[in-house]
Amino acid sequence: MKKSLPIFILLSLICCKMAFAQAVQSHTDTIDRKWWKEAVVYQIYPRSFKDSNNDGIGDLKGIISKLDYIKSLGVTVVWLNPIYSSPNDDNGYDISNYRNIMDVFGTMADFDALLKGLHDRHIKLVMDLVVNHSSDEHEWFKQSRSSRTNPYRDYYHWWPAEKGKPTPRYSFFDINSDAWKYDSLTNSYYLHYFSRKQPDLNWENPKVRTEVDDIMKFWLDKGIDGFRMDAFQYVAKDTTFPVFPPGYEKNINKYYGMGPHLHDYIKEMNTNVFSKYDIMTVAEGAGSTLEDAHNLVDADRHELNMAYHFEGVDITNKPGGYTLLDLKQVYTKWDKDFEDKGWLAIFMANHDNPRMVSNFGNDSPGFRDLSSKMLTTFLMTMRGTPYYYNGDELGMTNIGFTDIKDYRDVAALNGYKHVVNTGGDVQHYMQELRVRSRDNSRTPFQWDSSENAGFTMGTPWIKVNPNYTTINAADEDKDPNSCLSYFRKMVSLRKVNLVLVYGKYNLVDADNPNVYAYTRELDGKKMLVLLNFTAKDATVTSGIDLSKAKVLIQNYTTPINQNHLRPYEAIVYQMN
Ligand code: GLC
Ligand code: CA
Repeated sequence: MKKSLPIFILLSLICCKMAFAQAVQSHTDTIDRKWWKEAVVYQIYPRSFKDSNNDGIGDLKGIISKLDYIKSLGVTVVWLNPIYSSPNDDNGYDISNYRNIMDVFGTMADFDALLKGLHDRHIKLVMDLVVNHSSDEHEWFKQSRSSRTNPYRDYYHWWPAEKGKPTPRYSFFDINSDAWKYDSLTNSYYLHYFSRKQPDLNWENPKVRTEVDDIMKFWLDKGIDGFRMDAFQYVAKDTTFPVFPPGYEKNINKYYGMGPHLHDYIKEMNTNVFSKYDIMTVAEGAGSTLEDAHNLVDADRHELNMAYHFEGVDITNKPGGYTLLDLKQVYTKWDKDFEDKGWLAIFMANHDNPRMVSNFGNDSPGFRDLSSKMLTTFLMTMRGTPYYYNGDELGMTNIGFTDIKDYRDVAALNGYKHVVNTGGDVQHYMQELRVRSRDNSRTPFQWDSSENAGFTMGTPWIKVNPNYTTINAADEDKDPNSCLSYFRKMVSLRKVNLVLVYGKYNLVDADNPNVYAYTRELDGKKMLVLLNFTAKDATVTSGIDLSKAKVLIQNYTTPINQNHLRPYEAIVYQMN
């Protein structure tokens, strides 16, 4: 089973010593201010956001109809998951035409209207750039597979069968976990790190890199504001395909990530494209060491603006479970290492992970609301650009399908077939999926309490979470104490307090197993964040003097009790 689950589940944690630097204040005049550092990014999964024509699939017109809602959140950037033409083997991460809109999502005119609608509201648009692979239905691949001498042959990685079987390579989504697919047409194997319908592009071919530059320019010239670069750490490959040691797939980023010439390729993109526009670029994945991450994002290298590492989300896969001390250690380590140089993204959920509140909080009725607000407080008060996934502002939860027929994700479905074919423990696999599947976060957005949560009047492509009757935007909009109202307040708090963006982070009461407490400091302004990560009362060290502290926001509506925190209580104080 493990072999067929996606990377996000497989990555092992990097061990690293924590270094607690002395508290030193940061100053605005020495800060390299950038709009993309001060941004709050809202990720929209178009397929599940809003359906405008009742075919059961979210679309661009649907997003357009919700622009005022998006604006009301206060977010400043929208990141759209792929909307290009695609046969949808992996929900748009298999692109058959990079310059077209997927039929079910709408037309280029809809796209232009969406971009204008966002810009009119002073919201920027970042698109997904999926160029580690294309769809096998892309014209390049059709040409490439047609003959060994076709001019597009070298757009992909081919291995002639007369050389024998290629060196084993692990595939995230393949039924047999095999990244080489035999193609009888030319008696050769092609490489696919993801599904068979996602052949890997050959970045070692300069023509491929020029094609990608041109695709980026096409969208940037339309006025978009940047790219989220999908699986980007994998694009560069050692095409001699050396043998990897047994078990390498358990530490996949070390073997697949940061291949030869990756930095040359990014520098080339920067020179040819990025540097000509005022845009943001963010890499999915940050290699397997802190140094790898710095090499991607340190400003003086002129490569990318930021990257997101997986250590934060992957902590929930730690065998035997993780503790709050582990979580603090991970976030503190990354913050300290990037406090002087480089910039990171911060997130706790996305379309590849379970719902934030189910994964890191507590989605039982008594604590869902509080723990969701607590996690929102965390994301909005850490350094690094926060990426917030649509629906998390409502405290949407995992759906936890128990029947394989309800799943839609290629990773889940192929993983299931693998377990069945190999006689594995199907029951265990289903239990894992229920908690970990990416479909948990892909259920339709819960707009209101009408049928199908107001997402569609047709049959939704994936089931709606039945809790929409109580968890939905319309009800939360009316309630000043809802998750939604809290998210809006938290976003505006971050936007008006540069200290929350750039301020120095210092852990307080580091060994407290229940409370995550830290200060942020900038130009003499100091804030203190207290977060009880447990369902029990907790105490934060009495060493903190709260006598002059002013509460800026809290997730309970009843008075605060000094150093005692109630279950999942979150408080942000201004200390001076
Ligand atoms: C990235 C995407 C994921 C996709 C994969 C292949 O990890 O976030 O959704 O399945 O790349 O493109
Ligand atoms: Ca539709």
